[in-house]
Amino acid sequence: MSAVKQKKIQEHYDTIADIYDLHYDQRRGRCYHTHISTHIMDVLPKGGKLLDIGCGTGLFVKRYIDEGGSAIGLDISRKMIERAQRRCTTCDYMVGTGEKIPFCDNSFDAVSSLLVFSYIKDPESMLREAYRVLKPGGAIAVCTLGKKLITRGIPVIYQISEKINVKHLVMKDFGERYYDKEEMSDLFTRAGFSDVRIKWCSFAHINMIGPLFLLAQKIEPFVEKSVPQLAYNICVSGKKPRK
Ligand SMILES: C[S@@+](CC[C@H](N)C(=O)[O-])C[C@H]1O[C@@H](n2cnc3c(N)ncnc32)[C@H](O)[C@@H]1O
Repeated sequence: MSAVKQKKIQEHYDTIADIYDLHYDQRRGRCYHTHISTHIMDVLPKGGKLLDIGCGTGLFVKRYIDEGGSAIGLDISRKMIERAQRRCTTCDYMVGTGEKIPFCDNSFDAVSSLLVFSYIKDPESMLREAYRVLKPGGAIAVCTLGKKLITRGIPVIYQISEKINVKHLVMKDFGERYYDKEEMSDLFTRAGFSDVRIKWCSFAHINMIGPLFLLAQKIEPFVEKSVPQLAYNICVSGKKPRK
């Protein structure tokens, strides 16, 4: 497996920051993103202070605030943060990596990370850091592409796409890593989190043609509940024990 290429990731997101929202904040992309955000919102405390790791253009930060909380977004890409600042001028953002979080111990009620974990070079460090900055009793929720039969070929597809110069927002060889249920559970438990829960989400994919997307969206709740092997994002939540 190739190693995660952090500099390349940061430069890529700096380059595509101005078009990111065309992908995830419009039409099918917005439905897809809202769906994932709902999974994350459902397991986090409402109205608390949130840290969103890899906040991108601030889609989830804005949602958490709109639902009564306060939030800070952290991202390695300065340009993504600039877009996030335009989305919400009163929100706080910081450039930095999830593997070395620039905040004090016990400062947040909630930590979230959406569509980022596969890019993290050192997931143990990120989870250790998330644990450190959470207050006792605080909660974490992460949603990322999971390791499944249907996603196993993705790294190779991305490598080929890059070689033949496919113009797509995320189809590049960043050395991304995907995890299955056992690996995620192990990572979260070893970081100290208790009450670790795992759910699979997303069946309707943003790249499907319109009618297929609508159909997939209709049966999505059934798939997630009854045939989770067909859902491709893994959502993991956990709590920092109160001691
Ligand atoms: C697919 S985007 C997701 C953005 C946002 N979470 C969302 O849901 O729209 C991935 C984001 O993760 C950021 N990222 C990647 N590796 C990171 C790291 N180690 N620390 C912080 N941010 C990171 C990228 O710069 C990019 O903004």
